[in-house]
Amino acid sequence: MIELKVNGHSHNVSAEPETPLLYVLRDDLQLNAAKFGCGLGQCGSCTVLVDGAPTLSCVTPIMLLEGRQITTLEGLGSLEDPGPMQRAFIEEQAAQCGYCIPGMMMRAQALLQRNPRASDAEIRANLEPNLCRCGTHMRILRAVRRAATLIAGPGSSPGTPGTHAASAAGPQLDTSDTDNDAQGDARSRPAHSEKRERPER
Ligand code: FES
Ligand code: FES
Repeated sequence: MIELKVNGHSHNVSAEPETPLLYVLRDDLQLNAAKFGCGLGQCGSCTVLVDGAPTLSCVTPIMLLEGRQITTLEGLGSLEDPGPMQRAFIEEQAAQCGYCIPGMMMRAQALLQRNPRASDAEIRANLEPNLCRCGTHMRILRAVRRAATLIAGPGSSPGTPGTHAASAAGPQLDTSDTDNDAQGDARSRPAHSEKRERPER
């Protein structure tokens, strides 16, 4: 039996210690926001937070997670009371099929928790490991910027120099929204990311 702390609640789980967290979330705890995409640590659709860090739950065995704080998209708000990240994605209608969106939101949440004033370049670089097959990238980026504004509060804007702000590096985004708005972004990004993330013990 392994005790997992998910969204502030403790759960005793009888799954094998090697079981990926994603399976336990979906099959045992009925937390279905995190999605099975590749199952290989390459797409990011299964991203959750472990102690605040984005973590690929499809390749993270639960035996590494006892005593760790796990947060899923369900922990950011509810249908009745969505959190800032969820509100921003709704307001920007930042989804087509939506399959990648929970992972995108969790990775963005980790960034904005560290740096609510993240620049466009930082947001873009941070989301790079997560793939979107629908080409919704520009709407996703706008949603994250909107979330940053909601989190940072009135009178602030992402990228504005502040105590947490890092200098903006690289080209700024062209966020013009057209039917083909994601194509430029897709061209600049590798088809696959080999990046795997496991929490440190
Ligand atoms: S399902 Fe986990 S990275 Fe693709
Ligand atoms: S909205 Fe369909 S994969 Fe991203």
